[in-house]
Amino acid sequence: MKTFTLGQSRKQVEEMLPEAQIKTVQLGAKKVCMVKSGQEIFAFEPQCPHRMAALNEGKINGFNEIICPLHEYRFDLETGQVKSGDCRDLEVYKTELTEQGLKIFI
Ligand code: FES
Repeated sequence: MKTFTLGQSRKQVEEMLPEAQIKTVQLGAKKVCMVKSGQEIFAFEPQCPHRMAALNEGKINGFNEIICPLHEYRFDLETGQVKSGDCRDLEVYKTELTEQGLKIFI
């Protein structure tokens, strides 16, 4: 497992990730989508496991699920579990917001 750090302070991370806006970042060889929802920041693979649609064009609902823009499958952002649809689970990555920035464990 690798640890990446985004930003240099909590404030910088909060400015980078406005509520419910999905951003794509490059971390080493991997692209990762990030989104802030309430007190939590989620990180997940950028393409839908169903037919590879770009999840940065998806939406977050009130249950912290991402809804794919193409066929509206839903995935739990905490666990990656597919909640509606028939495909594998979404890959999700643990994050930790610290005073030195956002740590992402991949
Ligand atoms: S490509 Fe995402 S639900 Fe089909």
